[in-house]
Amino acid sequence: MPGPVPSPAVGDPGGLPPTVHVSHHPAILHKLALLRDVRTEPKKFRELVREISWLVGYEALADARVHEVPVQTPMEETVGAELADRIGLVPILRAGLGMVDAMLELMPTAQVWHLGLFRDERTLRPVEYYNKLPDSATVDLCLILDPMLATGGSATAAIEVLKRWGAVRIKLVNLIAAPEGIRAVTAAHPDVPIHCAALDRQLNERGYILPGLGDAGDRQFGTGRAG
Ligand code: PRP
Ligand code: URA
Repeated sequence: MPGPVPSPAVGDPGGLPPTVHVSHHPAILHKLALLRDVRTEPKKFRELVREISWLVGYEALADARVHEVPVQTPMEETVGAELADRIGLVPILRAGLGMVDAMLELMPTAQVWHLGLFRDERTLRPVEYYNKLPDSATVDLCLILDPMLATGGSATAAIEVLKRWGAVRIKLVNLIAAPEGIRAVTAAHPDVPIHCAALDRQLNERGYILPGLGDAGDRQFGTGRAG
Protein backbone atom coordinates (compact mmCIF):
# COMPACT_ATOMS: atom_id res chain seq x y z
CA MET A 1 0.00 0.00 0.00
CA PRO A 2 1.63 3.32 -1.02
CA GLY A 3 2.35 5.49 2.01
CA PRO A 4 3.24 9.08 2.76
CA VAL A 5 6.46 10.74 1.59
CA PRO A 6 9.54 9.34 3.36
CA SER A 7 10.25 11.64 6.28
CA PRO A 8 14.06 12.14 6.07
CA ALA A 9 13.57 14.48 3.12
CA VAL A 10 10.95 16.61 4.73
CA GLY A 11 11.31 19.66 6.95
CA ASP A 12 8.70 20.33 9.60
CA PRO A 13 5.83 22.12 7.86
CA GLY A 14 4.32 23.08 11.24
CA GLY A 15 4.22 26.81 11.79
CA LEU A 16 4.93 27.75 8.18
CA PRO A 17 3.54 31.20 7.40
CA PRO A 18 0.49 31.14 5.11
CA THR A 19 2.58 32.76 2.36
CA VAL A 20 4.68 29.59 2.02
CA HIS A 21 3.30 26.98 -0.36
CA VAL A 22 4.92 23.55 -0.44
CA SER A 23 3.59 21.23 -3.11
CA HIS A 24 2.51 17.72 -2.23
CA HIS A 25 1.47 16.77 -5.74
CA PRO A 26 2.39 13.15 -6.56
CA ALA A 27 3.84 14.13 -9.96
CA ILE A 28 6.19 16.56 -8.23
CA LEU A 29 7.16 14.05 -5.54
CA HIS A 30 8.00 11.43 -8.16
CA LYS A 31 10.12 13.82 -10.23
CA LEU A 32 11.85 15.22 -7.13
CA ALA A 33 13.17 11.80 -6.16
CA LEU A 34 14.78 11.51 -9.60
CA LEU A 35 16.13 15.06 -9.38
CA ARG A 36 17.79 14.41 -6.03
CA ASP A 37 19.36 11.12 -7.14
CA VAL A 38 23.14 11.50 -7.44
CA ARG A 39 23.08 9.18 -10.49
CA THR A 40 20.90 11.57 -12.51
CA GLU A 41 22.99 12.98 -15.35
CA PRO A 42 22.87 16.67 -16.39
CA LYS A 43 20.60 16.06 -19.42
CA LYS A 44 17.97 14.27 -17.35
CA PHE A 45 18.53 16.71 -14.49
CA ARG A 46 17.75 19.67 -16.78
CA GLU A 47 14.60 17.94 -18.04
CA LEU A 48 13.43 17.39 -14.47
CA VAL A 49 14.19 21.00 -13.46
CA ARG A 50 12.07 22.11 -16.41
CA GLU A 51 9.20 19.73 -15.64
CA ILE A 52 9.05 20.50 -11.92
CA SER A 53 9.34 24.24 -12.61
CA TRP A 54 6.31 23.99 -14.87
CA LEU A 55 4.27 22.35 -12.12
CA VAL A 56 5.35 24.72 -9.32
CA GLY A 57 5.09 27.73 -11.63
CA TYR A 58 1.56 26.73 -12.58
CA GLU A 59 0.58 26.94 -8.91
CA ALA A 60 2.48 30.21 -8.38
CA LEU A 61 0.60 31.85 -11.23
CA ALA A 62 -2.84 30.82 -9.99
CA ASP A 63 -3.76 34.35 -8.91
CA ALA A 64 -2.44 36.21 -11.97
CA ARG A 65 -5.10 38.66 -13.08
CA VAL A 66 -7.12 38.26 -16.28
CA HIS A 67 -9.70 40.35 -18.04
CA GLU A 68 -12.62 39.27 -20.17
CA VAL A 69 -12.37 39.12 -23.94
CA PRO A 70 -15.01 38.17 -26.49
CA VAL A 71 -14.35 34.85 -28.27
CA GLN A 72 -16.12 33.59 -31.35
CA THR A 73 -16.18 29.77 -31.34
CA PRO A 74 -17.37 27.82 -34.42
CA MET A 75 -20.70 27.56 -32.56
CA GLU A 76 -21.36 30.96 -31.01
CA GLU A 77 -19.88 34.00 -29.36
CA THR A 78 -18.72 33.60 -25.75
CA VAL A 79 -16.53 35.30 -23.19
CA GLY A 80 -12.96 34.21 -22.58
CA ALA A 81 -10.08 35.50 -20.51
CA GLU A 82 -6.87 37.24 -21.43
CA LEU A 83 -3.91 37.71 -19.11
CA ALA A 84 -4.01 41.22 -17.71
CA ASP A 85 -0.87 41.17 -15.56
CA ARG A 86 2.43 41.85 -17.23
CA ILE A 87 4.58 39.02 -15.88
CA GLY A 88 8.31 39.38 -15.27
CA LEU A 89 10.46 36.28 -14.86
CA VAL A 90 13.66 36.94 -12.94
CA PRO A 91 15.96 33.92 -13.11
CA ILE A 92 18.90 34.06 -10.71
CA LEU A 93 22.01 33.09 -12.66
CA ARG A 94 23.09 30.49 -13.13
CA ALA A 95 20.82 27.85 -11.73
CA GLY A 96 17.58 29.78 -12.29
CA LEU A 97 18.15 29.66 -16.05
CA GLY A 98 16.89 26.08 -16.16
CA MET A 99 13.47 27.21 -14.94
CA VAL A 100 12.86 29.86 -17.60
CA ASP A 101 11.66 27.76 -20.54
CA ALA A 102 8.99 26.04 -18.48
CA MET A 103 7.68 29.37 -17.23
CA LEU A 104 7.69 30.80 -20.76
CA GLU A 105 5.62 27.84 -21.92
CA LEU A 106 3.08 28.78 -19.26
CA MET A 107 3.26 32.53 -19.89
CA PRO A 108 4.63 33.12 -23.42
CA THR A 109 4.29 36.89 -23.15
CA ALA A 110 6.38 37.17 -19.98
CA GLN A 111 9.43 39.41 -19.94
CA VAL A 112 12.69 37.83 -18.75
CA TRP A 113 15.04 39.92 -16.62
CA HIS A 114 18.29 38.18 -15.69
CA LEU A 115 19.94 38.78 -12.36
CA GLY A 116 23.42 37.41 -11.68
CA LEU A 117 24.11 36.47 -8.06
CA PHE A 118 26.53 33.93 -6.73
CA ARG A 119 27.01 32.86 -3.18
CA ASP A 120 30.49 33.50 -1.79
CA GLU A 121 31.56 30.00 -0.68
CA ARG A 122 33.33 31.38 2.40
CA THR A 123 30.87 33.94 3.74
CA LEU A 124 27.73 32.43 2.12
CA ARG A 125 26.75 36.02 1.28
CA PRO A 126 25.36 36.80 -2.21
CA VAL A 127 27.52 38.73 -4.66
CA GLU A 128 25.73 40.57 -7.48
CA TYR A 129 27.61 40.39 -10.81
CA TYR A 130 24.95 40.99 -13.46
CA ASN A 131 21.87 43.20 -13.54
CA LYS A 132 20.24 44.39 -16.77
CA LEU A 133 16.99 45.66 -15.26
CA PRO A 134 15.83 48.91 -16.86
CA ASP A 135 15.44 52.04 -14.72
CA SER A 136 11.91 51.35 -13.57
CA ALA A 137 9.62 48.35 -13.29
CA THR A 138 7.96 47.23 -16.52
CA VAL A 139 5.85 44.41 -15.07
CA ASP A 140 3.00 43.92 -12.60
CA LEU A 141 4.03 40.58 -11.14
CA CYS A 142 7.63 39.35 -10.76
CA LEU A 143 8.49 35.71 -10.29
CA ILE A 144 12.01 35.13 -9.00
CA LEU A 145 13.24 31.76 -10.29
CA ASP A 146 15.90 29.85 -8.40
CA PRO A 147 15.93 26.10 -7.77
CA MET A 148 17.51 26.43 -4.31
CA LEU A 149 16.57 28.48 -1.26
CA ALA A 150 19.33 27.72 1.25
CA THR A 151 20.36 30.51 3.67
CA GLY A 152 17.99 32.84 1.83
CA GLY A 153 20.76 35.37 1.21
CA SER A 154 20.45 35.28 -2.59
CA ALA A 155 16.65 35.41 -2.55
CA THR A 156 16.59 38.29 -0.07
CA ALA A 157 19.11 40.23 -2.16
CA ALA A 158 17.08 39.58 -5.33
CA ILE A 159 13.87 40.77 -3.66
CA GLU A 160 15.63 43.94 -2.49
CA VAL A 161 16.87 44.64 -6.03
CA LEU A 162 13.34 44.18 -7.40
CA LYS A 163 11.74 46.37 -4.74
CA ARG A 164 14.25 49.15 -5.45
CA TRP A 165 13.33 48.71 -9.11
CA GLY A 166 9.70 49.42 -8.21
CA ALA A 167 8.25 45.90 -8.29
CA VAL A 168 5.23 45.65 -6.02
CA ARG A 169 4.02 42.07 -6.43
CA ILE A 170 6.87 39.60 -6.12
CA LYS A 171 6.82 35.83 -5.68
CA LEU A 172 9.68 33.44 -5.11
CA VAL A 173 9.59 30.14 -7.02
CA ASN A 174 12.00 27.45 -5.81
CA LEU A 175 12.34 23.74 -6.25
CA ILE A 176 13.90 22.93 -2.86
CA ALA A 177 13.81 25.19 0.18
CA ALA A 178 15.49 24.88 3.57
CA PRO A 179 13.71 26.04 6.73
CA GLU A 180 16.56 28.51 7.34
CA GLY A 181 15.96 30.18 3.97
CA ILE A 182 12.22 30.34 4.45
CA ARG A 183 12.70 31.96 7.85
CA ALA A 184 15.16 34.53 6.47
CA VAL A 185 12.98 35.52 3.50
CA THR A 186 9.70 35.66 5.39
CA ALA A 187 11.31 37.70 8.19
CA ALA A 188 12.76 40.26 5.78
CA HIS A 189 9.93 40.23 3.22
CA PRO A 190 6.70 38.87 4.71
CA ASP A 191 4.81 40.21 1.68
CA VAL A 192 6.59 37.83 -0.73
CA PRO A 193 4.92 34.42 -1.16
CA ILE A 194 7.20 31.42 -1.59
CA HIS A 195 6.23 28.49 -3.81
CA CYS A 196 8.40 25.38 -3.66
CA ALA A 197 8.33 21.74 -4.60
CA ALA A 198 9.90 20.58 -1.33
CA LEU A 199 10.73 21.77 2.15
CA ASP A 200 13.91 19.99 3.22
CA ARG A 201 15.31 19.30 6.68
CA GLN A 202 18.22 21.69 7.25
CA LEU A 203 21.48 23.18 5.97
CA ASN A 204 24.86 21.58 6.56
CA GLU A 205 27.88 23.53 7.85
CA ARG A 206 28.72 24.65 4.30
CA GLY A 207 25.23 26.03 3.71
CA TYR A 208 24.10 23.13 1.51
CA ILE A 209 20.58 21.82 1.80
CA LEU A 210 20.05 18.36 3.37
CA PRO A 211 19.00 16.06 1.87
CA GLY A 212 18.89 18.49 -1.07
CA LEU A 213 20.37 17.66 -4.43
CA GLY A 214 23.87 19.13 -4.21
CA ASP A 215 24.81 22.16 -6.29
CA ALA A 216 21.92 22.93 -8.65
CA GLY A 217 24.05 24.97 -11.06
CA ASP A 218 26.80 22.36 -11.32
CA ARG A 219 24.32 19.53 -11.77
CA GLN A 220 22.48 21.32 -14.58
CA PHE A 221 25.56 22.41 -16.44
CA GLY A 222 27.88 19.48 -15.71
CA THR A 223 30.46 21.69 -14.10
CA GLY A 224 31.48 19.96 -10.95
CA ARG A 225 30.86 18.24 -7.74
CA ALA A 226 27.55 16.91 -6.44
CA GLY A 227 27.54 18.71 -3.08
C1 PRP B 1 22.87 28.74 -5.59
C2 PRP B 1 21.38 28.76 -5.85
C3 PRP B 1 20.95 30.04 -5.20
C4 PRP B 1 21.86 30.12 -4.01
C5 PRP B 1 21.09 29.70 -2.80
O1 PRP B 1 23.53 29.54 -6.49
O2 PRP B 1 21.05 28.65 -7.20
O3 PRP B 1 21.09 31.17 -6.04
O4 PRP B 1 22.95 29.23 -4.25
O5 PRP B 1 21.84 29.86 -1.66
P1 PRP B 1 21.45 30.92 -0.53
O6 PRP B 1 19.98 30.78 -0.28
O7 PRP B 1 22.30 30.49 0.63
O8 PRP B 1 21.82 32.28 -1.02
P2 PRP B 1 25.13 29.64 -6.51
O9 PRP B 1 25.61 30.76 -5.67
O10 PRP B 1 25.71 28.30 -6.21
O11 PRP B 1 25.43 30.06 -8.00
P3 PRP B 1 25.21 29.27 -9.36
O12 PRP B 1 23.74 29.25 -9.64
O13 PRP B 1 25.97 30.10 -10.34
O14 PRP B 1 25.79 27.89 -9.22
N1 URA C 1 22.96 26.14 -3.60
C1 URA C 1 22.83 24.94 -4.19
O1 URA C 1 22.95 24.82 -5.42
N2 URA C 1 22.57 23.89 -3.41
C2 URA C 1 22.43 23.96 -2.08
O2 URA C 1 22.18 22.94 -1.42
C3 URA C 1 22.56 25.24 -1.49
C4 URA C 1 22.82 26.32 -2.27
